[in-house]
Amino acid sequence: EKGGYEHFMLKEIFEQPKSIHDTLRGRLLVEEGIIKMAGIWDHLERLNQAQKITIIACGTSWHAGLIGEYLIEEFARIPVEVEYASEFRYRNPIITDKDIVIAISQSGETADTMAAIKMAKEKGAFVYGICNVVDSSISRVTDAGSYTHAGPEIGVASTKAFTSQLTVLSLIALKLGKHNGNLSNQEFMRLITELDALPKKVEEVLETTNDIVKDIAKHFIGAQNFLYLGRGYNFPAALEGALKLKEISYIHAEGYPAAEMKHGPIALIDENMPIVIIAPKQGHYDKIVSNVQEIKARKGKIIALVNKGDTQVASVADYVIEFPETSECFSPIIASIPLQLLAYYIAVYRGANVDQPRNLAKSVTVE
Ligand code: F6R
Repeated sequence: EKGGYEHFMLKEIFEQPKSIHDTLRGRLLVEEGIIKMAGIWDHLERLNQAQKITIIACGTSWHAGLIGEYLIEEFARIPVEVEYASEFRYRNPIITDKDIVIAISQSGETADTMAAIKMAKEKGAFVYGICNVVDSSISRVTDAGSYTHAGPEIGVASTKAFTSQLTVLSLIALKLGKHNGNLSNQEFMRLITELDALPKKVEEVLETTNDIVKDIAKHFIGAQNFLYLGRGYNFPAALEGALKLKEISYIHAEGYPAAEMKHGPIALIDENMPIVIIAPKQGHYDKIVSNVQEIKARKGKIIALVNKGDTQVASVADYVIEFPETSECFSPIIASIPLQLLAYYIAVYRGANVDQPRNLAKSVTVE
């Protein structure tokens, strides 16, 4: 049932060209120049007139939510807040019937997310669900929603569900922006064409980076800490990369926005500190270059994720992983793949049980 792979996690990582394609299937119609999503279309006015959108989720789904914030604010120009469901439900958030709440959950069973949805509904909000498991509890209580269609995810560490969540959020942001006039038709066409090319690029990144990442992983089996840095859309991708490593390899890791490094974490950097830096060409590349130089000056070990043909960051880094270029807003979808592989191989070399890490459950139905 693992389809020849040693673990479900690896199988699911390699399934991503297909799972992303499945997420897009029937929704992204590039030739017609449209995004078809009944859940959005049926409630378009309500969604586009929202005073604000609050995204609630936990764990990896919360990281997807952070990227969702960047997407929706950039393309639909609606204010977005992202909250941990467990925090949202226990404070007294300002939510009214003019609000939209988007709940993201792979399993559709997470207790805190479920309770947060119930509270939001009591306050009159319209709740939109993004779930992977069809007919799950969350998908049943929400007012509308979109399934991610990533297929069953068995490995406890979420991989393909995450990239499908990002794909759905991209579709939603672009569709809202197109219909509320914030996104020109030309820009919309350019972006959906890029979106359509993602499954192929994900396939390419899997093919071209797997062996390289596996090799890099060998050098870090004994690491005790890791920093993950990214800017803009790739800051949440850094958080997610760090979470993957923590969960399955039990190495302490933290994600930071690269510019925050100088406000504290830089004190940690010495020759024993591995630092993963996500540095695509688009998205404040020059700023990232100076961050990398600061790390180098302190002898940190740099693992750089760069676009093909990069020279500036690549020449300073100790290890280089190249990935295909795309629009900045979609780059986390591609950059996440080598990060998943890195966590996977480090954990495997350390002899950890990657599919069922200690202390973790696939769906957290307890509070
Ligand atoms: C991370 C992971 C967890 C889940 C979190 C939310 O790999 O699996 O952090 O993302 O428990 O779960 P869902 O998305 O099912 O609500």
